[in-house]
Amino acid sequence: MNNKIHVLAGLQWGDEGKGKIVDMLSKDYDVVVRYQGGANAGHTIIIDGKKTVLHLIPSGIFTNNIICVIGNGTVIDPKALIDEIELLNKDGIDLTDRLFISKDAHIILPYHKIIDAINESKNDKIGTTKKGIGPTYFDKYARRGIKFSDFDDESVLKDKIKKNLGYLISIFPESDELKYLNSTDLFDELKTQYSRISSYFEQTHYLLNKFISEGKNILLEGAQGALLDVDFGTYPYITSSSPTSGGACTGTGIPPTVINGVIGIVKAYTTRVGEGPFPTELFDETGKEIARIGVEFGATTGRPRRCGWLDLVALKYAVIINGVTEIALTKSDVLDTFKEIKLCTEYELDNKIINTFPSNPFVLQKVKPVYRTFKGWNTSFSNTSTYDN
Ligand code: IMO
Ligand code: MG
Repeated sequence: MNNKIHVLAGLQWGDEGKGKIVDMLSKDYDVVVRYQGGANAGHTIIIDGKKTVLHLIPSGIFTNNIICVIGNGTVIDPKALIDEIELLNKDGIDLTDRLFISKDAHIILPYHKIIDAINESKNDKIGTTKKGIGPTYFDKYARRGIKFSDFDDESVLKDKIKKNLGYLISIFPESDELKYLNSTDLFDELKTQYSRISSYFEQTHYLLNKFISEGKNILLEGAQGALLDVDFGTYPYITSSSPTSGGACTGTGIPPTVINGVIGIVKAYTTRVGEGPFPTELFDETGKEIARIGVEFGATTGRPRRCGWLDLVALKYAVIINGVTEIALTKSDVLDTFKEIKLCTEYELDNKIINTFPSNPFVLQKVKPVYRTFKGWNTSFSNTSTYDN
């Protein structure tokens, strides 16, 4: 097998520039696949000065003839999907025979977004995107989730929506918004939405494995980043899926034995949106300067991103758990004008030096970054086109 089956994954807390790199690399691939997450992702692509933010459809879609697949590991809000398809259609991009979506992906229903907002209004705030991601995965792992394949038997689907809504009202009795929902209306709305997109759905695990046997090159596009991973991230300040490369297998049905490269995306500094520990976070003018030059505002929620120096302890950890074979470093030009640039090489914890990334967020909260300071390059590399330069 000579074809490239590569995973592209974020190595920080998301927003590393995955969309741009996928768009740049797409010409080397025949197929681009999203394997986890949902419309919490915001992948920004700028073509000829025109900016498009994609939340669900893989960032490869702007490359002619490339096939895009949304895998079983994702969670899909049908409304967000329809909006995105229409946006691309308006741009003259026809998705017929170019977009395939797994029937096994779970559906985000209106009640999931309501629960996301209820959870966020409590003390244990995570700072989610409120797109219903966590509550949908919660239903998935509780074995009552609703998949697009449930449309194969509509009477069972109708019954599942009714049972799920009843259950959720019983555990969130204080929510008027939930009480106002009616399962028949939910079913009817979903059915109308599905009728507009049903042609895209199939068992994509068969399709992807057929592509592999035909010798096609496949790029698996992760959303979010390693430090937001449900297992390896700063739990509970994480997203509810597996952005690390392992998630690319369970989220698509592509077996680990065929994956032959992992491209890690790293920003030259660090950002984070939402709550949770962030050892190299800057609260001073330098942090503000990075945010200003780097235009660090969330592509999905518009929230300002927290900014800080590059954390090599966290990065080495992300490289190990992803099995990274290549790194793409993004936004180094944001640092072009800085007199000094710092890199965190170790942490200090209770007067001891450590170089592993703690699992416990309260321990991570306590570590002090140990920095090496470098003189800034104070020049622009934007016209540099050769490696030696
Ligand atoms: P891309 O793909 C940055 C963060 C949220 C919050 C936490 C949980 O653009 O890199 P969720 O809505 O997923 O339950 O929120 O995860 N988060 C992201 N941060 N980039 C993203 O995606 C993110 N998707 C989720 O801010 O802290
Ligand atoms: Mg983002």
